[in-house]
Amino acid sequence: MNRLAASGPLLMSDSSAVQQRILALSERLHHLNHQYYQLDISEIPDQEFDQLLAELQQLETEHPGLALANSPTQRVGGTITKQFPTAEHRYPMLSLGNTYSEDDLREFDERVQRGLEGAPYTYVCELKIDGVAMSLRYEHGQLTQGVTRGDGTRGDVVTANVRTIRTLPLALRPGPNQPEDFEVRGEVFMPLPVFAELNAEREQNGDALLANPRNAASGALKLQNSAQVAARKLRFYAYSLLTPGRHFACHSAALEALGSYGLPVSDTWRRCATITEVLDFVHQWATQRFDFPVATDGIVIKVDDLRQQDQLGYTAKSPRWAIAYKYPAEAARTRLNEVLYNVGRTGAVTPVAVLTPVALAGTVVKRATLHNANQIELLDLRLGDLVYVEKGGEIIPKITGVDLSARPAEAVPIVYPTACPACGTALVRPEGEAHFRCPNERGCPPQLKARLEHYISRKALNIDGLGAETVGRFFDLGLVTTPADIYELPARRAELVTMERMGQKSIDNLLAGIEASQQVPFPRVLFGLGIRYVGETVAQKLAAHYRTIDALRAASAEEMAAVPEVGSVIAVAASEWFQQPENQRELERLRQAGVQLEVTGEAPVPASDRLVGLTFVLSGVFEQHSRDELQQLIISNGGKITGSISKKLSYLVAGENMGPAKREKALGFKVPIISETELMVLLPGPGEAPAVGSAMAAPLPGPGQQSLLL
Ligand code: IVH
Repeated sequence: MNRLAASGPLLMSDSSAVQQRILALSERLHHLNHQYYQLDISEIPDQEFDQLLAELQQLETEHPGLALANSPTQRVGGTITKQFPTAEHRYPMLSLGNTYSEDDLREFDERVQRGLEGAPYTYVCELKIDGVAMSLRYEHGQLTQGVTRGDGTRGDVVTANVRTIRTLPLALRPGPNQPEDFEVRGEVFMPLPVFAELNAEREQNGDALLANPRNAASGALKLQNSAQVAARKLRFYAYSLLTPGRHFACHSAALEALGSYGLPVSDTWRRCATITEVLDFVHQWATQRFDFPVATDGIVIKVDDLRQQDQLGYTAKSPRWAIAYKYPAEAARTRLNEVLYNVGRTGAVTPVAVLTPVALAGTVVKRATLHNANQIELLDLRLGDLVYVEKGGEIIPKITGVDLSARPAEAVPIVYPTACPACGTALVRPEGEAHFRCPNERGCPPQLKARLEHYISRKALNIDGLGAETVGRFFDLGLVTTPADIYELPARRAELVTMERMGQKSIDNLLAGIEASQQVPFPRVLFGLGIRYVGETVAQKLAAHYRTIDALRAASAEEMAAVPEVGSVIAVAASEWFQQPENQRELERLRQAGVQLEVTGEAPVPASDRLVGLTFVLSGVFEQHSRDELQQLIISNGGKITGSISKKLSYLVAGENMGPAKREKALGFKVPIISETELMVLLPGPGEAPAVGSAMAAPLPGPGQQSLLL
């Protein structure tokens, strides 16, 4: 740490000085992460932390060979994995026997007692976290591998993704009896507040909601871009330590040791001397778990002594020394009175069940989601049925079944509407989608209203003095239909004054808010336009890349798809949106109204102009840099990225596992195929940018020539 404090600007030409600085920064950042995430201590302000991280990131980009495998920069991700390799588990990942009854727990205890032939024993009780099982390998204190459960014998290697879990040490702290090479098993999960935030964001963006935190965690772990995984804020709790030999006498000692190595272990576990104490623990958490910020679905009970565990052994599927008690899913039975159909911002129709109010898991449930038409059919629902509603890990209650024995004779089958319940337009169901949609984008009132609400929402234009309710009233009165109409309100002051609950003061506030919204930066305006799939992050990426709405409008879907974090589905949706004349007119009106349609301020200074006039396609998985980094490097040196190979393309940059079709095509068009290393040769090295065409660039084939190196 002192080394860091003392270090002035380093002359980074000396690779051992760089290496030392990388080591010192990594050590310091590992330490700060441990303090922050394990001990809740902020030693330095966030900004300073970010500066240290940025410095390390830069050094690693400039000297990829010196980057440490477990660098703290791994937390922010950036690795792209096209397909996860699989690995065999050194110790199979078994599951636990489940029970929902206390009698079964007593029987389990009797079996343990018999198995141990009367010897004294104790239990450890832990919360059963409802996430995704993960096996981590630590060698010489370094995290070297993360593998999912898979089929219990082989799982997916998702190391880059688990490295983004902030509470997980990439390097262990020394601790008692630390094995040189061991595995830690535990649960990767998404904390409930993070899950709620993610779903709120998805709702705002018009995306389908995630059913529960477990699905959210498992979906996140399967993402190919670890930077996106990092954004999902996953967490991990360790619950067992596996080594070839025995390092600890009992499970509780292993849990304590894991904690002392810096691994996150939930401090909710308890030693229980008897089955009565176990049942007390089970009862205590039956309600307390609702205040815990992590989804739990039960309690895991384990015999503490490891020799006794061996003595009890395993059945084919699960250990005889442990059992999972599962809390019954919180369910209630109530009547289905009506089905309403909600039309969202993107026209998606979602059926909502209107129920006779019923108490469930601490709240009164009046409505439940029915997801889509398939769900209604699957459940064979009729109006008037008595239905089961569950809350489980889900935030929104759902209907899980029908009590057919209580079906009233007068129950009426539900007829899914074929026309939009709001505007009467025939519904369509795009191929591959579960939802029916109302295609009347320009005339369907709930869609128009939802788009206005989105435009004024906090993360978009955030117009002070104009809330969802007021904009809804304006819409109903025909004062505003699209966002651009909002900017005509100042001219309609006379009409506003005649409105109920619209005093001079609220009008002043409203008009001031509208004026202030002209200063809202372009990325938020772009988000506010409500283009399908263009959420906050995508809007930021597109705005940063194209800088003006005109440049963005002129871009083809293919070009947009090459921008980091913008996939082809998003790109096609955005490009179609810009082609519609109504949207072009709307943009023109917004421009007239003084809304920001370009990034203000200086354009970022390019690192060099070495790549001006050159276009690149990146394909495959890269070793030294993430795809995002390579794209940024190309752009900041004046080059352009595109998605498809044509004869005009300057270079195809090939990583590992590049598709054979791309290769063929490039060869056909005589486009040079270069490697990641060769691309680096095209770029200026650290320090002064050499002039274009200098000796450094000479060994590479020029555009139009075949690579000699590949
Ligand atoms: S012990 C031999 N402890 O529950 C099995 N599992 O079937 C050892 N789980 O998917 C598992 N919390 O990932 C254990 N405290 C805990 C747990 C736990 C959640 C998961 C586990 C597996 C399932 C058990």
